[in-house]
Amino acid sequence: MTQSQPSFLIGNLPIHGDVILAPMVGYADSPFRRLAREMGSAMSYTEFVNAIDVVHHAKIVAERAHFKEDERPVALQIFDSEPQRMADAAAQIVLAYHPDILDINLGCSVRDVSGRGAGAGLLRSPEKVAQIFHLISTSLPIPVTAKIRLGWDESSLNYMEISQAIVENGGRMIVVHGRTRKQVFTGSVDLESIAQIKQAVAVPVIANGDIRTPADIERVLRFTGCDGVMIGRASLGYPWIFQRRAHASILLEETIKVIRRHLELMIEEYGAERGVILFRKHLSRYLKPYSVPRPAYEPMITATAEAELLHLLDSYLADSHSSETTG
Ligand SMILES: Cc1cc2nc3c(=O)[nH]c(=O)nc-3n(C[C@H](O)[C@H](O)[C@H](O)COP(=O)(O)O)c2cc1C
Repeated sequence: MTQSQPSFLIGNLPIHGDVILAPMVGYADSPFRRLAREMGSAMSYTEFVNAIDVVHHAKIVAERAHFKEDERPVALQIFDSEPQRMADAAAQIVLAYHPDILDINLGCSVRDVSGRGAGAGLLRSPEKVAQIFHLISTSLPIPVTAKIRLGWDESSLNYMEISQAIVENGGRMIVVHGRTRKQVFTGSVDLESIAQIKQAVAVPVIANGDIRTPADIERVLRFTGCDGVMIGRASLGYPWIFQRRAHASILLEETIKVIRRHLELMIEEYGAERGVILFRKHLSRYLKPYSVPRPAYEPMITATAEAELLHLLDSYLADSHSSETTG
């Protein structure tokens, strides 16, 4: 079978598809990333790992950094503020986990991270950004990429300087969340600035922020000229967005099929009991559009066993079919 033309290249790495699941700590874990890949996400990003934890061999590193082969191409993401420690961590983690890409987080707005100069805090130090990308890209055998915001706040929109620092020092792709650190998740996404970055650099640029529908995907691609889009929150409970399918077109029957698959992947990852419990945060999102009445919903969201939950879902589906035909 011949592979179709890639949508774009990250260094020499071909990427097929232009819609990508965003890294999301606590949500975009290995099971959700596998599901998203099965449903059309073009690649995967691990949940971010603190370089300090890597060099100290902390237990959380394995939880965050491991992935399954079917998630590839995989970008393993790290964050920190110290260039040499980041380079050491990058070398260690690439050797241990064999990702396809090493991604540097320059976008995290959380106070504990950005306040100490890591994540979006790095946007305040373009020289440090240059140093980080130089050190890491010259020492790793895989592409190094960046995920950025537009600046620290509205008075320091230095995304062009940051993008140049990344690309001139070996960065091979830039994902842009079109907001400042100060905005966190408020206000609107600035697509013009994303388009400006795309115009200016010769590496792929991916647009991110508030993309919720297939129409949003097309609008953002057209407006920014970007090589792809990245979707985070909207994909929770709605992985069909990676197939560019409208949420309203997904019948309960199909949702239950995807719930089964997602739950199976969760149990494979976390074991029978923990898998079901950790799945609850996804289940509530899958069921939201169907406004399941409380007496039916409560037992589903509190179920502790896979068989019990699947039985409740199937019975609810059968009941809703029979009320359709009799009602
Ligand atoms: C719960 C949560 C966890 C996140 N974790 C990460 C992370 O580990 N690394 C990262 O680069 N961005 C992280 N983000 C930011 C997202 O990747 C994305 O940039 C942001 O949510 C905007 O995209 P959206 O509007 O499609 O959600 C996180 C966002 C959320 C909501």
